[in-house]
Amino acid sequence: MADSSLLTIPGVDRFPLRKPLPRAHIDTLSRDIFVLKKQLNAVILAHNYQVPEIQDIADFVGDSLGLSQQAAKTSADVIVFAGVHFMAETAKILNPGKIVVLPDKNAGCSLEESCPAAKLAALQRTNSNFWTITYINCSAEVKALSDVICTSGNAVKIVEAAPKDRDLLFVPDENLGAWVQEQTGRPMTLWRGNCYAHVEFRRESLLRLREQLPDAKIIVHPESLREVRDLADAICSTEKMITYCKSSPAKQFIIVTESGILHRMQKECPDKQFFCAPVIDVMRGPTDPCHCSECKYMKMNTLEKVRDCMKQLAPRIELPVHILQRARLPIERMLEISARA
Ligand code: 13P
Ligand code: SF4
Repeated sequence: MADSSLLTIPGVDRFPLRKPLPRAHIDTLSRDIFVLKKQLNAVILAHNYQVPEIQDIADFVGDSLGLSQQAAKTSADVIVFAGVHFMAETAKILNPGKIVVLPDKNAGCSLEESCPAAKLAALQRTNSNFWTITYINCSAEVKALSDVICTSGNAVKIVEAAPKDRDLLFVPDENLGAWVQEQTGRPMTLWRGNCYAHVEFRRESLLRLREQLPDAKIIVHPESLREVRDLADAICSTEKMITYCKSSPAKQFIIVTESGILHRMQKECPDKQFFCAPVIDVMRGPTDPCHCSECKYMKMNTLEKVRDCMKQLAPRIELPVHILQRARLPIERMLEISARA
């Protein structure tokens, strides 16, 4: 790790205070996982927010779009999805004949929770001209009610490709939806859901950090509030954040998203410095020493649980056939639009 990891700024934690696993334990678990991977002909897909030791044993680490593209083309028999439930479900929908396991079945998402399928169906019934564009952070049942899926990496392109004569309904992230609306100029009805982790970032704490790092670029995930997006040098998906930092001549970056992404950033840009944007203190309370943002769902996965889900082939994603079939259409539509030049 670069010297930059030692740099501290009073009141700013660059990494969450997670007790790291002992190196020997990581090595043993990683060896076990490697053997199981060969035995099972498995592929390990990990999201950018996973803990470092999971990212380090994964075959592919990326954002929701990259992970679904990998899931769509894998020839493995078993998909180990180190991410949250809706991501593993997406992999299952794209691979109904394969075994898909998730290290912790409780790894959910606040956006998914905010949008129950019955409530969405009721809203859709109010306007037969709705074209439903659904952020991938939702259940398979909600995907099955959608016209097209999007991720933060392709939302603008997906909205631009929407039929001009339809009324757009964007679910479930109101912040991503508002940003896409600004980018495309296309009015949309927005579902009132949000990511509990990203809405903890606030303008005031970001401004305080920027005072201490005047040369740093501010990179913001579009699930963040508008007051935070307004301070950004770049607004993008987690994968595009990494591309941006790699190609930028800047040497310091304030990263406004889940802190797990700093592992890849430091690995891929060892000569640059990355700082987690702090979340507002009042939400965690003054006694919580860590002000980095962590997604409690993403962090449910551990290296032990990755090994165990491969040993037991459980927890496994199973879905009713009619949901598998219906939910596949809007995902395939997204992948097709995404691949367009
Ligand atoms: P990305 O697709 O940008 O990685 O975002 C996924 C997510 O859950 C963000 O909170
Ligand atoms: Fe869901 Fe937010 Fe966690 Fe992403 S960071 S998985 S949007 S709760």
